[in-house]
Formats: sequence, structure tokens, C-alpha cells
Amino acid sequence: MSGGLVTAAYIVAAILFIFSLAGLSKHETSKQGNIFGMAGMAIALLATIFGPDSGSIGWILLAMVIGGAIGIHLARKVEMTEMPELVAILHSFVGLAAVLVGINSYIDHGPGLEAVMENIHLTEIFLGIFIGAVTFTGSVVAFGKLRGKISSRPLMLPHRHKLNLLALVLSFLLLVMFVRTESVGLQVFALLIMLVIALAFGWHLVASIGGADMPVVVSMLNSYSGWAAAAAGFMLSNDLLIVTGALVGSSGAILSYIMCKAMNRSFISVIAGGFGSDGTATGDEGESGEYREISAQDTAELLKGSSSVIITPGYGMAVAQAQYPVAELTEKLRARGVKVRFGIHPVAGRLPGHMNVLLAEAKVPYDVVLEMDEINDDFADTDTVLVIGANDTVNPAAQEDPRSPIAGMPVLEVWKAQNVVVFKRSMNTGYAGVQNPLFFKENTQMLFGDAKESVDAILKAL
Ligand code: TAP
Repeated sequence: MSGGLVTAAYIVAAILFIFSLAGLSKHETSKQGNIFGMAGMAIALLATIFGPDSGSIGWILLAMVIGGAIGIHLARKVEMTEMPELVAILHSFVGLAAVLVGINSYIDHGPGLEAVMENIHLTEIFLGIFIGAVTFTGSVVAFGKLRGKISSRPLMLPHRHKLNLLALVLSFLLLVMFVRTESVGLQVFALLIMLVIALAFGWHLVASIGGADMPVVVSMLNSYSGWAAAAAGFMLSNDLLIVTGALVGSSGAILSYIMCKAMNRSFISVIAGGFGSDGTATGDEGESGEYREISAQDTAELLKGSSSVIITPGYGMAVAQAQYPVAELTEKLRARGVKVRFGIHPVAGRLPGHMNVLLAEAKVPYDVVLEMDEINDDFADTDTVLVIGANDTVNPAAQEDPRSPIAGMPVLEVWKAQNVVVFKRSMNTGYAGVQNPLFFKENTQMLFGDAKESVDAILKAL
């Protein structure tokens, strides 16, 4: 394939990626968006493999078959609730790839470049490896936190902001040394020390962020992985990789910003690694006391006597796969003339839009599924709220306790309703590891057990 044809194919692929992003921004067009993205990626791959710069096609195809087989296996196996972990680990691969491309570009870069171009190329290599290494370890920690292998509590090292600053300053000095020195030994030294610092920096940056802020971290790492890919594009002089990386980097940054706004967090604080949290509160010391239990039978009776019901689902609904009986319950209650609506918190579950996808899958009508801002004022006029597997997103401590790790985060104000029934299996905390005073309020009753089994039992009793 000639260079001109490859450039044309890259332009078509870049346009398809932009259409893909536009499609993915709306529920109704998201399937189309995926198809555009896949078509763009197929064109990009073909043009790269058969382009003039590609090496041995045999090796590339072998790597693709192995990588593709692993990818298909994982995608078929992964549960919906494990998707964020998969996304996090995939981001780490992008970071690792950028590190390896950087090291390879350094080993491969021969003499022959003008001094200025040489300096630019060395800077690209240094920055590419730095961003890649930060993305790599940051994503591995995010994976560990999402999978429950690493505590979701923020790591509060003494002087942690100074440590971050020191890492950045040292890396900058090493960059100057790397670009200016004539000695290969010193260059390798600078690169290796920076690599160690960047790996530690990425680890620390994400480890310092508390559980409830993880959604922002995942989208932020998405953004970093885009910039790492763009850096690899510069090192490889591949225009499409630069454009694609920039698209991913900027869309991830926009998503992080939107999430920060929805959660009332400062964007800068979160990207600076939990900046602003003073680490004095762990959330364990929250209100506790007596709680009341309710049976599925009594919950059915409560629902029979209610004229308005709001359901606030959370991660537990996804774990229990309770969306189908919940949809059936909605239909049954609506048939009895009960006004049923859903209140969706922007970070309920473990993925942006997680609850919306599950409810759409179970064919709950879109018009009864409302965002937090649309429904929060209506709880006071509601007879019964069913909190199905949600915890952090309905925690009044966010408003009542300024020392709480989730202080300031907007939550669904379910406690304002006349009756609240919380569906969960135990008194365990939610993802942020924070005790929930809602469970001890006078108008709250706990329905213990798997959410799907509980809703099934209510359906039977109705
Ligand atoms: P969580 O606070 O995670 O609480 C989920 C609750 O579901 C738990 O308290 C658990 O209690 C219960 N549960 C688990 N399995 C269950 C089952 N089979 N049946 C019944 N209950 C079950 O949920 P949330 O309110 O949706 O909040 C989401 C949290 O995740 C937030 O802190 C958010 O910041 C974080 N997060 C969100 C995202 C995105 S983008 N949405 C990404 C990463 C992190 P038991 O164990 O007692 O049953």
C-alpha cells in the first residue's frame, strides 16, 4: 500500500472515530457509534499493517491472533459488574505499550537528525515513557481497588503533596539532563531513574484517591491512556495514533470534568491525587445504633398501601442481576395505579450509566427513569422508596458530616420519603467504606438478603 493511500485511509479512520464519539454520547445512537469506531479501527489496522512502514507481516499477524484470542476470551467471560476492572487493566496496557515504544525508540534512534530535531525526539521519548509509566501503575492500582484486592481507602502518606511535587521536579531535571548530555551512560541513567519515579508517582497518585472518587479516576486514567497513545504516535511518527490518542485524551478529560461537577469535586484536587482531603476521617466512626428489619411480605403490604414509589438502584442490583424482577415489580405496581419512578445517581454502580444500561436491558420505560437532579425534590412527597443495592449514593453523611470522606458529594435524598426500605445482605458499608446513617433512621427498614431473591419474594406476595 502506498504512503498516499495510507494517509487517505488514516483520514477516513480519524473521521469515523469522531463520528463514533458523537454516536456514543447519546443512548439512542450508541450502537451506531460503536459500529463507526469498529469500522475506523479496522481501516486503521489494515492501513498500518499493509503500509510502507510495517515490518514482517507474519509476526504482526501472529501477535494479533494471540492478542485477539485473549481479548475475545476475556470479553466473553467478563461480567457486567467487572467491566470497570477490565477497562482499568486495558488502560494499563496502553501505558505499558507507550513505555515499551519509548524504550524502543530510544534504542533505535540513530544519528542523522539535526540537533533541534534530535532534542525534540528525545523529549518525545522522555515524555512518552513518563506518561506511559504513570498510566501503567495508576491503572494497575485502579484495577486492584475496583477488584477489591487493594483497599478502597485513600492512602494518606505524610507530606504526600510534597512527594508528588518532588517527583515532578526531579523528573523535569532528569528530562533536561537526558536531552542535553552527550553521554549515553548518563542518558540511560536519567531514563531509568525517571522510569522508577514515574512508576511510583502513578501508583501514589491513584492510591491516594478514596473509593467514592474512583469514577473520576477511571475516566482520568482513560484520558491519560489517550495522551500516552498520542505520545507513542509522536515517537513512531504515526499521525493517526496522535489524532486518536488526542481524541481519547480530551474526551476522557471532558468526562472526568463532568463527573467532578456531578460529584461536587474539584477537578484539580482529584487529578492531584486526593488533594483537599485532610485524611482525618475514615468514615468508620459514623452514626450507628438500632435498625429495624422488614420482611418481603410486609414490604409488599407497604407497597400496596403506597400511591407513589421511587426505586433507587445501586451496585447491589447489578451484582444480584435484580433488574428483571425490578422491571416486573414496576409493571405490576404501575398496573395497580401506583406512580413508580427510578432515581439514578450519576455514579451508581461501577460504570457511568451502569444503572441506565441495566434498566434499559430489562425494558423499563425510559420516561420513568430520572436523573438525581430531576427527582431529588420529589422524595418528600413520596410514600415509599426502595433502595435496591445502593449505599454510598444514598448516604446522608455526605450532607450531614463535614468530616466524612464523601462530604459534599450530592446524594439521593431518600430519607425524606415517608418509608424507606433498604435491600442489602448485611450491614456492610458501600464502596467508599463509609458507614451509612440512613440505615438507623426511624423511617428506614432493612430487607436483608440477595436483592433478586427479595424482589422475587415481594412479587410473589403481591
Ligand atoms: P455501593 O456504595 O457500592 O453499595 C452497594 C451495596 O450493594 C453494598 O452496600 C452491598 O451491601 C449491596 N449489595 C451487594 N451485592 C448485593 C446483592 N447481591 N443483593 C443485595 N445487595 C447487595 O453502591 P452505590 O450506591 O451504587 O455506589 C457506587 C459506589 O461506587 C460509589 O462510591 C461510587 O463512587 C463508586 N464507583 C462508581 C463508579 C461509577 S462510574 N459508577 C466507578 C467506580 C466506583 P451488602 O454487602 O451488605 O449486600
